[in-house]
Amino acid sequence: MTDERIRDLVEADLPWMAQVERDLFANAAWSEALIREDWRYGTCRYRAVEIDGSLAGYAVYGYDGDAFHLMNLAIVPDFRGRGLAKVLVGEFLDEAARHKAPDAWLEVAVNNEAALGLYEALGFEIVRTRRKYYQPGGIDALVMRKELRPYVPETPNA
Ligand SMILES: CC(C)(COP(=O)(O)OP(=O)(O)OC[C@H]1O[C@@H](n2cnc3c(N)ncnc32)[C@H](O)[C@@H]1OP(=O)(O)O)[C@@H](O)C(=O)NCCC(=O)NCCS
Repeated sequence: MTDERIRDLVEADLPWMAQVERDLFANAAWSEALIREDWRYGTCRYRAVEIDGSLAGYAVYGYDGDAFHLMNLAIVPDFRGRGLAKVLVGEFLDEAARHKAPDAWLEVAVNNEAALGLYEALGFEIVRTRRKYYQPGGIDALVMRKELRPYVPETPNA
């Protein structure tokens, strides 16, 4: 039976994450220096999924200003198509809900069919396009949002 475990990424995992970034995103990858600095800063959660003791993917999420945001997500190719991204994004959504965030946000490249399929399956909707968001390629991003609870305006004091 497969052992699937979700845990925090620890400092010793960061070179692995940086290598996956380089393999998947080439010159748009997060550098190891950036990953280390952000991880140490500690405002984002760095979560990993492990299969039978092998790291299979990660998600980075947290508050970006005042919105709950998925900043990064990847599953290494050998472990795709078995629901692991769904588990990590599901955890992000649960945490957003626990923080009573009204909604959850992310960006995805317009040409990333797998990620778009994933986010649409999880109920995210396209809100707008950010032109040339991904550099250096100049690829447009779709900004996606999932509502977690309906907006209720504060009742003004009588
Ligand atoms: C996008 C990515 C994270 C999906 O990871 P995954 O673990 O294979 O996804 P899951 O198995 O959890 O798939 C969940 C759902 O996503 C959708 N999906 C996944 N892969 C898809 C594909 N290639 N095409 C269309 N939809 C897809 C499906 O709705 C799927 O549900 P189903 O299997 O019941 O049909 C993975 O392909 C990846 O790491 N890609 C490279 C990095 C990346 O693009 N990250 C996202 C940046 S915004």
